[in-house]
Amino acid sequence: MLKRSSGCAVVVALLVAAAAALSATPAPKAPCKTFTTCDSCLSNVSCLWCQTNLSCTEYPVAHLLPPASICPLSEARWGVCWVNFEALIIAMAVVGGVLLLGITVCCCCCCCRCRRSSRPDRVEEEYARRREEIKQRSDDRKAERRARHDEIRKKYGLIPDSDHPYSRFENE
Ligand SMILES: *[C@@H]1O[C@H](CO)[C@@H](O)[C@H](O)[C@H]1NC(C)=O
Ligand SMILES: *[C@@H]1O[C@H](CO)[C@@H](O)[C@H](O)[C@H]1NC(C)=O
Repeated sequence: MLKRSSGCAVVVALLVAAAAALSATPAPKAPCKTFTTCDSCLSNVSCLWCQTNLSCTEYPVAHLLPPASICPLSEARWGVCWVNFEALIIAMAVVGGVLLLGITVCCCCCCCRCRRSSRPDRVEEEYARRREEIKQRSDDRKAERRARHDEIRKKYGLIPDSDHPYSRFENE
């Protein structure tokens, strides 16, 4: 009996805790000024932590960057505590620059490949193919003619018959 009631108490406690957690999770609304540590301050993305006087202030959204009057950039923290705002901006600029460069290079490569495989070259290829065909046909004809001439020469013994290389000598 005691066991069951304590089990019930645990379940109720869990439910209450879960309800509290659920109601608390969506909005632990607190103004930035109430935070006293960097981690708690930055848990709200609209807050800015300043290392000089360990203060949490609202991010000055009117300015793109927090002005030095609020906090010098090298002492400001936003998003993460272990990197100062200056380094964060530089890193973002570098990443952005690299991305932009990559995209530009990719575009250039694509354009070049497109232009190379466009009409003028295809026309040239077609010409080359036709030239090759014509050459092949003329070669075929030449070979045919030579074969016929060889046949005639062989018939009249003008060249040695490869099947009977000594036939002429034998005949002489
Ligand atoms: C974040 O800070 C702002 C400014 O103090 C406040 O109005 C807002 O309710 C806070 N948001 C959360 C989720 O704590
Ligand atoms: C922190 O310092 C900045 C200037 O560096 C000042 O504007 C701000 O009011 C200070 N905040 C607190 C809580 O002292």
